Amino acid sequence: MEGTRSLRARRYPASLQIPEEFPDSSGRQNSMRLPKRWATHRCWLLLGVVVVLLFLAMICLPWIQTETSKPLAWYVTHAHKKQVHEHVHRVLKSQCRPGSARNRLLARLPASSHMTQPFLWKDVPLADDLFLYPPPFGFRSLRGNVEDLLKLLPDSDSSPLPEKTDKCRRCVVMGNGGILKGLELGPLINRFDTIIRLNSGPLGEFSVDVGNRTSIRMSYPEGTPRRWIDTDPDTVFVAVVYKSVDISWISAMMKKLTVPLWDWLFFWQKVPDQIPLEPHRFRLLNPEIIRETALDLLKYPPPRKRLLGNDQNVPTIGMSALNLASVLCDEVSLAGFSYNLSRQGAPLHYYDHLRITAMLKETTHNVDRETELLQKLVREGAVTDLTQGLHCSFCPS
Ligand SMILES: *[C@@H]1O[C@H](CO)[C@@H](O)[C@H](O)[C@H]1NC(C)=O
Ligand SMILES: *[C@@H]1O[C@H](CO)[C@@H](O)[C@H](O)[C@H]1NC(C)=O
Repeated sequence: MEGTRSLRARRYPASLQIPEEFPDSSGRQNSMRLPKRWATHRCWLLLGVVVVLLFLAMICLPWIQTETSKPLAWYVTHAHKKQVHEHVHRVLKSQCRPGSARNRLLARLPASSHMTQPFLWKDVPLADDLFLYPPPFGFRSLRGNVEDLLKLLPDSDSSPLPEKTDKCRRCVVMGNGGILKGLELGPLINRFDTIIRLNSGPLGEFSVDVGNRTSIRMSYPEGTPRRWIDTDPDTVFVAVVYKSVDISWISAMMKKLTVPLWDWLFFWQKVPDQIPLEPHRFRLLNPEIIRETALDLLKYPPPRKRLLGNDQNVPTIGMSALNLASVLCDEVSLAGFSYNLSRQGAPLHYYDHLRITAMLKETTHNVDRETELLQKLVREGAVTDLTQGLHCSFCPS
């Protein structure tokens, strides 16, 4: 015993030797052990503090990073603005053909595509196919969570859209592209039957360019406005599930409860802690909409299991919104869709300071593939492009 102790003592540098190595009386030995125990306690305490600080940092950092900055200045010529307005007037005046957008998309979809339910309802049993893939393509191994959420959702006799109209429905999907800036399309956008907005795309001071009505706001937790911005009394919130924790957030929002502390660790950005809408104004997007967009329209390979990185096979929310609109509406128009990297210095969004070149860092989505498909859909007449960012029919080249 003594031997091992002295051996051990010799291996440590002098500064690390502890009083225990020199026991001369039992009483002294005990009193000298106290500092060691204290040191251990301090270590644990320090570790605890570090863990708490790291936790706080994870919660607060994204919030600091995402403070909004002043919008970029961007100039649009009067002649171009006039041409765009004339184009939108033509779209609004053209004949509305029932089922037009969906029929054109169906021509691109395999015959097996039979998705007709864009939302999931309390009283409609979940199809087994929904559990084939993980989010956002399905709910694999999340049956319990989804069934619990379903209980909170409205029944299928609720109208999928806020406006109850039997007439041919003209919809516009509002992308958040900087191409909307300065075009002053707001009043024309407001004339569409249904206006679908994405993520936190703001209104207020931007209404002159983007309008002030919202029929649907479609988003996932991190994309949702921190403070609700839509003043329409009938806006419907369409929740998209990209990961399992999103289900828990949606039910917290519907039940008006706080998000469980543990869940905060899984969000990559601060998420809203409340959405001031009654439960009957929540909709849960059928993941089949995203699966169909990715696998059938964009022809991405089916999702594979992998530990790191991603397959770039998740469509942007704008692309999925287009597919959703084709099911809900008769005619579909797009506005604010453009990732034209040749427009250097152009703003990426209509509301912030990012430039379009920030898109070069994009790794989640395959922007080229989407642009190619969108351009084809515009050329085929499946959808119209109000802001002409995908395929400009009257731009000087
Ligand atoms: C949009 O703006 C118009 C004109 O200012 C106003 O009459 C209307 O109430 C607004 N609608 C919404 C939903 O804010
Ligand atoms: C992209 O921007 C460039 C430069 O402004 C323009 O020449 C080109 O036509 C644009 N492409 C599309 C698809 O609009």
